[in-house]
Amino acid sequence: MDSSTIFLILISILYLNPISTLEYPQEIINELYPDLMDNPNATISTPPAKPPTLPFPPSPRSSPLAPALFVIGDSSVDCGTNNFLGTFARADRPPYGRDFDTHQPTGRFCNGRIPVDYLALRLGLPFVPSYLGQTGSVDDMIRGVNYASAGAGIIFSSGSELGQHISLTQQIEQVMDTFQQFILSMGEDAAYNLISSSIFYISIGSNDYIHYYLQNVSGVQSRYLPWSFNEFLAQTMKLEIKNLYNANVRNVVVMGLAPLGCAPNYLWSYNSKNGECVEMINDMIMEFNFAMRFMVEELNRELLEANVIFCDAFEGSMDIIKNHDRYGFNVTSDACCGYGKYKGLVLCISSDMACKNASNHIWWDQFHPTDAVNAILSDNVWSGLHTSMKYKNDLKISRKLKHI
Ligand SMILES: *[C@@H]1O[C@H](CO)[C@@H](O)[C@H](O)[C@H]1NC(C)=O
Ligand SMILES: *[C@@H]1O[C@H](CO)[C@@H](O)[C@H](O)[C@H]1NC(C)=O
Ligand SMILES: *[C@@H]1O[C@H](CO)[C@@H](O)[C@H](O)[C@H]1NC(C)=O
Ligand SMILES: *[C@@H]1O[C@H](CO)[C@@H](O)[C@H](O)[C@H]1NC(C)=O
Repeated sequence: MDSSTIFLILISILYLNPISTLEYPQEIINELYPDLMDNPNATISTPPAKPPTLPFPPSPRSSPLAPALFVIGDSSVDCGTNNFLGTFARADRPPYGRDFDTHQPTGRFCNGRIPVDYLALRLGLPFVPSYLGQTGSVDDMIRGVNYASAGAGIIFSSGSELGQHISLTQQIEQVMDTFQQFILSMGEDAAYNLISSSIFYISIGSNDYIHYYLQNVSGVQSRYLPWSFNEFLAQTMKLEIKNLYNANVRNVVVMGLAPLGCAPNYLWSYNSKNGECVEMINDMIMEFNFAMRFMVEELNRELLEANVIFCDAFEGSMDIIKNHDRYGFNVTSDACCGYGKYKGLVLCISSDMACKNASNHIWWDQFHPTDAVNAILSDNVWSGLHTSMKYKNDLKISRKLKHI
């Protein structure tokens, strides 16, 4: 493909009518995922075409702090799910992954590690494999599975103009299928112990803004004020966490949203003058985080054995943006990889669109932070090292979660 073809494709993605679904060539979808279109259960039963080699971190501990880490979410934590789907939301080409441990693209929307990689290391676990990228054997899943899919939202159809994704509800179905396999292979008691002492990390919600609310899909803005839209998202999330709880999940980390209004794509599309963040969007994100935090407090009261933590990624990220010098960043509004003003106009699709050194940038591409930012935010989730992001009901902290 020459660059003008690529540009035309990108422009057509950007200006797609958000309500119509993307016409991705059927042959490619069939080849990538033969059963997905006809059978909604196909993702559960179909083994992936060819599992990629899984990168292992330097040294998983022999006695990890939790037996396993399970990840549910969107592109903030996708580690390869979308490589197997027919979608434009994919990160399986350079320069993605260029600063990762393997220096190869993996499907992570980052130059390097994503937050759950850092978290797995802290817990003494290997990097968690993607559900669609492992063999389906219990041995592969026993230390955790990552179900996250770029483009997914809390609302089923959020992000569907990009192509296929595994929505939040479908990800939870995949979790349930994994649990069934645990029960069959190790028996109910052992499976119960594993599930109830593992950690579940949920990072989702951006696409309900990027691809739904902010695009006014189905005229949503005239029927829901941001406040009631957020309330709707929070209550939907609450039901999903209850489903997990009913399947014996006890330890859940709910990540709040980062300041999307500062993402290069919105600086470009809202004509930011000097890189100032789009306040209207950030206000909605803050309300989302408030609604989620409130919902998490409710859950901890209603579910006796629940241990749910909310992490406010907004405050932690704003601290990095405001005090960027102290953190070693000198490029705060331009993405490292992209095109146009703030590098916010188009997706990052080739190595020559990327800056040389991402580590002094806050943003890697239009929407996603760099490895350097992920490292700092993960430190905050772990220990409140830079800014405290955690809100939790102290009486309920189990020993397993005392470090998170
Ligand atoms: C999908 O799974 C559900 C529940 O496991 C089952 O009731 C349904 O029949 C399945 N659908 C197909 C098309 O296999
Ligand atoms: C959202 O869409 C509805 C219905 O199409 C329209 O009436 C309304 O003006 C739109 N709102 C905004 C802010 O564009
Ligand atoms: C950021 O710092 C690097 C060196 O550390 C320098 O090469 C680069 O020009 C600086 N960029 C800006 C926008 O100040
Ligand atoms: C990239 O920038 C960081 C921070 O400014 C610096 O420490 C590092 O040496 C640079 N790396 C390269 C390859 O230039």
